Amino acid sequence: MKKILALMLAMMMLVCCFASCAKDDNADNNNNAPVGGNAEETTDASTTEAEDEDVLTTVVEGKLTMATNAYFPPYEFYEGDKIVGIDAEIAEKIAEKLGLELEIKDMAFDSIITAVTEGSVDMGLAGMTVTDERLESVDFSISYASGVQAIIVKEGSAITTVDDLYAEGASYKVGVQLGTTGDIYCVDDFGADRVTQYTTGNEAVSALIGGAVDCVIIDNEPAKAFVAANEGLVILETSYADEDYAACIAKENDALLKAIDEAIYELTADGTIEAIIAKYIK
Ligand code: ARG
Repeated sequence: MKKILALMLAMMMLVCCFASCAKDDNADNNNNAPVGGNAEETTDASTTEAEDEDVLTTVVEGKLTMATNAYFPPYEFYEGDKIVGIDAEIAEKIAEKLGLELEIKDMAFDSIITAVTEGSVDMGLAGMTVTDERLESVDFSISYASGVQAIIVKEGSAITTVDDLYAEGASYKVGVQLGTTGDIYCVDDFGADRVTQYTTGNEAVSALIGGAVDCVIIDNEPAKAFVAANEGLVILETSYADEDYAACIAKENDALLKAIDEAIYELTADGTIEAIIAKYIK
């Protein structure tokens, strides 16, 4: 059902995109993006800018440079010294469609948006959730997957539902990955002194095992991988937030945004993305 919905949204997005291209009177054609569109942007582009935007330029000629944080299985993780996973494979297909060679740069998750805005990479693809706050600095492509913020606890934990975290007088400590939506939402909901930020999800999970925090809030799929790799941990049935993942691209780079949207649309329509996801998520 979700996939059908995602496909419909992607189709709507493309129809809007093509209609807007045909009109050629508005450089910013992402206003109607169903997920992650830069809805509030109203660029008053000149004709020259509108023409320029169709020229696909990348940071390194012939390459699609992608920023990620490769400690986020099954979306991105190391197999030996190679970064693999859902995002790596989808990016490979996008690059192929664009006639570019993919280059992946691994960095701290909270550096990805800066790398995109500073122009040291072409896009961020990192199981990154579309949020209004991020849309202030970058554009997002149409969504290619959805995620859920899950809660990991030790077996037998006193925390049994998300409500326990909100309970009056609750002082449970939460571990998160720095700069992620888990981090941002938990600081908002529970206050900064109950939240400890770690550079990677693995470190947050080690802190849970060592007793420094009482639970870890992180995206569901990496949560499953962390729980499978460590004894004595469980994921609570109740989840914390539902999200959409998309690629982030610099605001000025309309040509790349359009090309990536088209690629994701086609890769969704022909089942490629579904097959890649099914390979990693059983
Ligand atoms: N979905 C969350 C967010 O966008 C977490 C993503 C973390 N990704 C990663 N590759 N470490 O904030």
